[in-house]
Amino acid sequence: MSQLASRDERPWWRDAVTYQIYIRSFADSNGDGIGDVEGIRSRLPYLKKLGIDAIWITPWYPSPQHDHGYDVADYMDIEPEYGTLADAEELIKEAHGFGIKLIVDIVPNHTSSDHAWFQAALKAAPNSVERYRYMFRDGKGVNGDLPPNNWEAVFGGPAWERVTEANGTLGQWYLHLFAVEQPDLNWENPEVVSHLEDVLKFWLDRGVDGFRIDVAHGMFKEAGLPDITKDPVAEMLGTDHKPFWDQEGVHDIYRSWRKIFDSYPGDRMAVAEAWVSPASRIARYVRPDELQNSFNFEMLTTLWKASEIKKKINHSIDALAEVGAPTSWVFNNHDVVRSVDRLDLGLTNHGDTTRLRQGDPAQFNIARGTLRARSAALMMLALPGGAYLYQGEELAVPEVRDIPEDRLTDPRWKMSGYLDRGRDGCRVPLPWSSNPEGAFGFSKDDTLTPTQAWLPQSAWWGKFSVDSQDGVEGSTLSMYREALAIRKAEQGLGDGPMEWIQAGEDVVAFERPGDFACYINFGAAIELPSNSQILLATGPVHGHTLATDTAVWIRLIS
Ligand code: GLC
Ligand code: CA
Repeated sequence: MSQLASRDERPWWRDAVTYQIYIRSFADSNGDGIGDVEGIRSRLPYLKKLGIDAIWITPWYPSPQHDHGYDVADYMDIEPEYGTLADAEELIKEAHGFGIKLIVDIVPNHTSSDHAWFQAALKAAPNSVERYRYMFRDGKGVNGDLPPNNWEAVFGGPAWERVTEANGTLGQWYLHLFAVEQPDLNWENPEVVSHLEDVLKFWLDRGVDGFRIDVAHGMFKEAGLPDITKDPVAEMLGTDHKPFWDQEGVHDIYRSWRKIFDSYPGDRMAVAEAWVSPASRIARYVRPDELQNSFNFEMLTTLWKASEIKKKINHSIDALAEVGAPTSWVFNNHDVVRSVDRLDLGLTNHGDTTRLRQGDPAQFNIARGTLRARSAALMMLALPGGAYLYQGEELAVPEVRDIPEDRLTDPRWKMSGYLDRGRDGCRVPLPWSSNPEGAFGFSKDDTLTPTQAWLPQSAWWGKFSVDSQDGVEGSTLSMYREALAIRKAEQGLGDGPMEWIQAGEDVVAFERPGDFACYINFGAAIELPSNSQILLATGPVHGHTLATDTAVWIRLIS
């Protein structure tokens, strides 16, 4: 296989391993049970030792926290619960001192209803400049009693909320594709466009290396806001067309954002959270003059099946190669059921997670789930492109399914009519120590108990702690550290070519430059090539026999 541009010659974002920090749940520095900026700062040495290249911090702006920060009240400041702007600036500098890039989460589709703009819009009259920043419309029916169209919010229920006008009468409706407290911005309004550009510059000026763009396929809505036509099959497959997703207008925005990134020194970048399919639609977000990365969510919806995974890898790589962009693999984030549970139970994050989140343990086999999640990670880290890790996956924490109902906080819980427990189960504060003091080491304050953390930690949570895995051979943490170290040392991993190895129907196997190969076995035990030297494995390997659900990195010795 051909030799590649060395890591120093290519932009870092082509194959970076980025660690997602869900700030509320990462580390608490002051004992209030809520993670914060100082907590992240104190754990930079841990992140350095893990071997990641960059961190992505979920929204840390002032917010009433109806959707834990994805409801932004002010894009140019820090939520007081998390710290100050000065703390954030210090963190950016310190991360850079450790050689770690930092990207922030930008939420352009909607603001918080607490945002000064929305408060002003509520007080202003219909058709005012203030209302034009959002999606206000008159209702249908007699007296405008019915919502302007039939759109539904992602979290459940109608996507429209009626407001009371200044004179006390029921008035217009506003669009919220997510929670009621997340009014959609009007991207046809140049003032919105220019404000968000100012926001980007504000953070670029403070040294951030890039942005994760929330709901990057949202923002623009089809002209006339037509009703949606319902097709249950297309919905299940995720191929249905919605007049509020993936509209042409977003690409103009990303073209102008790209110019802003390029006007700064260093390789500033952005990664799109665009839940669109097929892969050819994703490719449109990463054309050479648009964004650099777009999450590849294929693996969030995959079954643990070799043929399906191979197909998804091929589609993803081919579609993005056409525009010269790298793929960005993801197996976990703060919106989906943890891979340990998912890959064991065969959940695809298409509605079937509701059942799991309701606490039905089904036939959950944690040992098998853990092995599969580890093998998935090794596969991801050997594939061409970048990878996004979500805090806790390096510890193989499972989904927490026993959060008491009265402690659930995800807006999805209420908006689904208390049918879907929502995403809290993958957001429980990290266990740093096996001792329950300080909420298993999540908090600097030893007196904080596990149930006093903002989301309660279960009694068994400490089993997965950092301290119980640190330096322990065969632990998931040790595996991630070794994998990332090897990935760094092998110049050919990350960006660059791959070739499939035909190793049977139930095996995913591919070669990378440097006689490096990765095998993942989904079926009965197989024999690895006799010339393989094992570099790393997700489970025991006896001789050259690779057991079910196990993955290895090998060097093929000639
Ligand atoms: C994205 C975020 C999710 C949030 C939603 C609304 O999908 O990842 O957590 O609830 O956008 O902002
Ligand atoms: Ca705190």
